[in-house]
Amino acid sequence: MTVEEKLGQLQQLAGAWETGPGGNSTKNAVESAARAGRLGSVLSAFGARSTNALQRIAVEESRLGIPLLFGLDVIHGFWTTFPIPLAQAASFDPGVARTDAEVSAQEARANGVHWTFAPMADVTREPRWGRVAESCGEDPYLTAEFTAAKVAGYQGRDLRAKDRVAACAKHFVAYGGAEGGRDYNTVDVSEARLRNLYLPPFRAALDAGAATVMASFNTVGGVPAHGNAHALTEILKHQWGFDGFVVSDWNGVRELVAHGFAEDDAAAARLALTAGVDMEMVSTTLREHGERLLREGRIDAGRLDDAVARILRLKFTLGLFDDPYADEGAAVAGPVPATRRAARAAAARCMVLLKNERGTLPLRTSVGSIAVVGPFGDSGDLLGTWAVPAAAAKYPSVRVLDAVRRAAPGARVTYARGVATEGGDTRGIRAAVAAARAADVTVVVVGEPPALSGEAAARADIGLPGVQERLIEAVARTGRPFVVVLVNGRPLTVGGWLDSAPAVLEAWHPGVEAGNAIADVLFGKVDPGGRLPVSFPRAVGQIPVHYNHESTGRPYAAGVKYTSGYLDLPPDPQFAFGHGLSYTTFRIGAPRLSRASVPARALHAGDTVEVSATVTNTGAHAGDEVVQLYVHDVAASIARPVRELRGFERVTLAPGATRTVRFRLGARDLGFWTNDPGGVFRLEEGAFDLYVGNSSTATAKRRLTVT
Ligand code: GLC
Repeated sequence: MTVEEKLGQLQQLAGAWETGPGGNSTKNAVESAARAGRLGSVLSAFGARSTNALQRIAVEESRLGIPLLFGLDVIHGFWTTFPIPLAQAASFDPGVARTDAEVSAQEARANGVHWTFAPMADVTREPRWGRVAESCGEDPYLTAEFTAAKVAGYQGRDLRAKDRVAACAKHFVAYGGAEGGRDYNTVDVSEARLRNLYLPPFRAALDAGAATVMASFNTVGGVPAHGNAHALTEILKHQWGFDGFVVSDWNGVRELVAHGFAEDDAAAARLALTAGVDMEMVSTTLREHGERLLREGRIDAGRLDDAVARILRLKFTLGLFDDPYADEGAAVAGPVPATRRAARAAAARCMVLLKNERGTLPLRTSVGSIAVVGPFGDSGDLLGTWAVPAAAAKYPSVRVLDAVRRAAPGARVTYARGVATEGGDTRGIRAAVAAARAADVTVVVVGEPPALSGEAAARADIGLPGVQERLIEAVARTGRPFVVVLVNGRPLTVGGWLDSAPAVLEAWHPGVEAGNAIADVLFGKVDPGGRLPVSFPRAVGQIPVHYNHESTGRPYAAGVKYTSGYLDLPPDPQFAFGHGLSYTTFRIGAPRLSRASVPARALHAGDTVEVSATVTNTGAHAGDEVVQLYVHDVAASIARPVRELRGFERVTLAPGATRTVRFRLGARDLGFWTNDPGGVFRLEEGAFDLYVGNSSTATAKRRLTVT
C-alpha cells in the first residue's frame, strides 16, 4: 500500500445528505475518493443498491480493490424503531436491548450497512443533557449490562453473517459528565471517578467483543478525548488490550483546534493519530496532511500501519474481501408483523408506573367513554431521538388515540389537543376540559417532542415544555378520573402538577409501536414492570441528584442545619433510581448471605458470596417486580457511594407466588479503582452493607465483612 492508500483507509466521509459542522461530502467527492483508493468508510449511506454502487467503485476501480465499510447510526432501530435506550434501561431486562440490536442488525445489514455507531455506553447524571435519552442512565452497572447485551445482539458470533453488524461503543470517554449538561462541554473527573463510574460500561462492551470504539467530543481533565493518549492508548489499547479500532466522532479531529489543543489542522491530525484515533470521521486532516507529517517524521510510520491494520482486520472479519456486496434481492423494506410485535412488547416492558392512587389504573376495556387529550395523544412523533430519518418518514409511531380506540372498541373515545407541545396558547384547554367532563376517564398524553431530546438538545428547564402543565391542572379541576402518560426523552421535573394526578405512567419515547404499547399497559394487558434508570429531580436546582452519591462528612439530617442539603428542597429526588409500581403488590424478604464474612484473598481467588431474597406477589394480579441488590463499602481509602447497584432480576409472578432470587458478589463487585493512572483495583478489608429491595431506597440490609 502506498502512504496515500494507507491514509485513505483512515478516512470516513459522510453521505451527501448529512447535516452538521465539518461539512458534507458530495456524492462525486465520495466516488472519486473511492476510485482513487483514498477512502476507507462511508457513513449514512444505506440501501443495498446505493451501497453496492459505491462498493463497486472501490472494489473494481481502485488499484487495490479494498472494500468500503458502511456505517450508520442504528441506535434504537433501523426500519423498526424500538424505544429509546433510556427506556430500554428502564426495563431492567437486557433482553430488551438484545432484541432491539438483533432486529436492527438484520434490517441494517440487509440494507448494506456493516457497522452501527452504537451502543452509547455513556453514564450520565445530567437530565439537562439531551443525550441522556441515548444513555442507560446514571448507573454504571446497569449501563454495563445493557451495553454488553447490545453488542452481543448487533454482532452475534460471526460478523460475516448477513444479519449482524459491527458495534461501536461510544463516546470514549466520560461524555455524559459534561458540565451543566451542555453538550460537548468540559468534563473534569478524577482517575478514580473515571474508572469507577465512566469506564465500566466500555470494559463490558469490549468484554462482549465490541469491534470499534468512538472518541468523544469532550475534554477529560483538560485533554480533549480525540487527543487523549491516556484514554485512547494507555487505558483502551495497552491496559485493556483493545485490538479493534477507534473512530473519531463527527469532525472531532479538526475540533482539536477549536478546543485550543492543536494550533492547526495538521497538528490536529498528528495529535489525534498519535493519541490513538485510527479512523477520521468527516474531517479530512489526516488525508490532507498525513503524507507531509510522515515525511517530516511528525507521525510515526508504525502508528500509521497499526491504524490501517486495525481497520483492515475488521473488513476481513466482516467478510468484505470475500463478499463485499449486499444482496439487493434480500433487502428488507420495512417493519414486518414480527418486528412490530417485538417493538411493542419491548416498549410496554420499558414503561414505569410512577404513581397510581385509588386503583385508577389499569383502565377497564368496558369503560363507557374515554377522552384522550394532550398534544401527544394523536401524534406519530413518538419514535425518539435517533430514529433513522427514512424510517421516521415512512413509519411514524402508532398513535395513542387509535390504539385506545382499538383497545376499548365499545367506548366512545373523543380527542382534544388542548395545547401544543410548546408555546403559550391555552385557548384549546376549554375543549379539552369539556371532553374530560363528558368522559368516564381522561388520558392526558404530554411530554417532550423528540426534537427536544438527543444531541445538542440540552434544556435548562426540564419541566413539560409550553403550557402542558396548565392542561393537566385544568383537567384535574374537573374532578373527573384521569391518568397522565408522559412521553419524554429525559427525567422531567413534575412537581408542579404531580399531586393533582391520580396516576402517572412514564412511557418515554416508545418507538414505532408507541400507541399500542401505551394502551397495552393502560388497559392492563401488560403489567408495568419498568423501574427508573435515572433519578427524577424535584427541581433543576437540585441537579446533580443521583442515588450513587457520596455520603459527605455531614450527610443530610432532617431539622439539622449544618448538613448537606437545600433550605428549600427535601434531599431526595422526586422519584428515585429503581422506582416503579406494578398493578399488583410484592413483598421482598430480608437478604440472606451464604456467609457473613469472607477473606479478601478468597474473593481475589474467584470465590463469591451469595445474596438471596424471596419475593412474593401479595396482590390479586400477575405482575413484574425488579429485585435489586445494592452494596455500600462502609469505610474505604476512597469515599465510596452510599449505594451501588450490583445485581437486579426482573421476575413475573402469579398472585400468591413466591420466588427466591439469588445474586453472587465477587471481588469485582466489592472493590474499586484508585486514583492511580496505571489502573489499580483494590478490594479492602472491612464492612459492606448489602441492601435488597425494589429500588435504591431499599432498607432491608445485611452486613458482610471482608477480612
Ligand atoms: C454525532 C454523534 C455520534 C454519531 C456521529 C455520526 O455527532 O456524536 O454519536 O455516531 O455523529 O452521526
